[in-house]
Amino acid sequence: MKQVRVGVVGIGNMGSAHAVSIFQGKAGGLSLAAVCDISRSRREWAEAAFDGRVKIFSDYRELLKDGELEAVIIATPHFLHPEIAGAALKGGFHVLTEKPAGVFTSAVRRMNAAAAESGKVFSIMLNQRTDPLFQRLKESIEEGRLGEIKSMVWIVNNWYRTQAYYDSGSWRGTWSGEGGGILINQCPHNLDIWQWLIGVPDRIRAVCRTARYHDIQVEDDVAIYAEYQSGVSACFISSTGEYPGTNRLEISGSRGKAVAENGKLRLYLMDCDERELCRSSEQAMPEPPVSFEEYGEEETEDGHILILRNFAAAIRNGEKLIAPGEEGLNSLWISNAAYLSQWTGDWVELPLNEVLFEALLKERQEREKQDFSDALRHQKEEPQEAAARGREPGTSDEVYERRWSVRW
Ligand SMILES: NC(=O)c1ccc[n+]([C@@H]2O[C@H](COP(=O)([O-])OP(=O)(O)OC[C@H]3O[C@@H](n4cnc5c(N)ncnc54)[C@H](O)[C@@H]3O)[C@@H](O)[C@H]2O)c1
Repeated sequence: MKQVRVGVVGIGNMGSAHAVSIFQGKAGGLSLAAVCDISRSRREWAEAAFDGRVKIFSDYRELLKDGELEAVIIATPHFLHPEIAGAALKGGFHVLTEKPAGVFTSAVRRMNAAAAESGKVFSIMLNQRTDPLFQRLKESIEEGRLGEIKSMVWIVNNWYRTQAYYDSGSWRGTWSGEGGGILINQCPHNLDIWQWLIGVPDRIRAVCRTARYHDIQVEDDVAIYAEYQSGVSACFISSTGEYPGTNRLEISGSRGKAVAENGKLRLYLMDCDERELCRSSEQAMPEPPVSFEEYGEEETEDGHILILRNFAAAIRNGEKLIAPGEEGLNSLWISNAAYLSQWTGDWVELPLNEVLFEALLKERQEREKQDFSDALRHQKEEPQEAAARGREPGTSDEVYERRWSVRW
């Protein structure tokens, strides 16, 4: 069957890894036809890496005029995802965008509308959904094995980052360049798994602490408490400043609980509903029979490659998408609501007040511009030297780095 000719826009850390995987034939069904980056040094890298066999552009609008391309993968800084994806979808291309879907929900809703109108395949790189542990957990919840869900508690503070990481790109760790900190950069994977498992909450109260551990403009330490109209509650704690970190997800239901930690999923299952025991006339809790199942240690391929292959198969044979692009909006509702809760010092109901969110985000960007006039220098930087961004050539390009995965 014909390969899908794809162009990758943004060939920094992530985009170069996708481009190389496709070029090397690892993403069955996709063939690399073009790349695009505003940075001259990245274009020079591409010239050498792809032996002159791939077209190279400096402006994505030119790439979208290429008559031979059918699909576009977007791996630029977050703010640009909706703009480039929207233009590509309107231009008749299939699109796979990097996470997060964008920085604010109104832009992402416009992108989703363009996708719906286009009829093209639209996916998002939420590669953690391919993890067999999360898939088994989702199945267990959907099959009702945990009973009615009561609560979720997730501590994810193994997203440790050094100051050099934040210094490696002038867009990083700023409201203007990135639109936030750990919630918009590292946590979209976790926030997506959260909503994928138990849905988007109805209201959120959060504390997002700015620069607790690093010299940055945005938050690196977060605690979110969320509630659902159904009565379910969720607690989410994350930071990039604690080492060694913890990654423990616990979901409680009326018939048992699930715990995912250290690469294992443990299910503690009862053959009756706790609420029946609660109604019993016995004063002491009768000992419910609890069975125990454990899963883990399954060897899997890198989730990024699996999402690339799924994207290709969706285009070629109509395979069901693992991560439909429209679903990128859901985790953004959660992170935007957490910011708004911090900024207003109050609960935020979902869907949130987008106008207020954008006005308060803009305030922060303006303040940052005044205080740090060079915070936007990435827009003028040409070429954006790899060395200046802290990248050792050949070390972080071309491979999917361990730090991009949720480490249990
Ligand atoms: N799915 C994952 O596991 C994962 C992991 C890392 C990063 N990401 C995402 O990938 C995106 C990029 O992150 P990164 O770490 O590769 O950043 P990066 O800074 O290394 O790369 C971004 C690249 O985009 C280029 N760029 C900027 N504006 C552009 C434009 N208008 N047109 C074309 N190119 C442009 C930059 O020059 C740069 O080379 C982010 O949104 C990030 O969240 C996802």
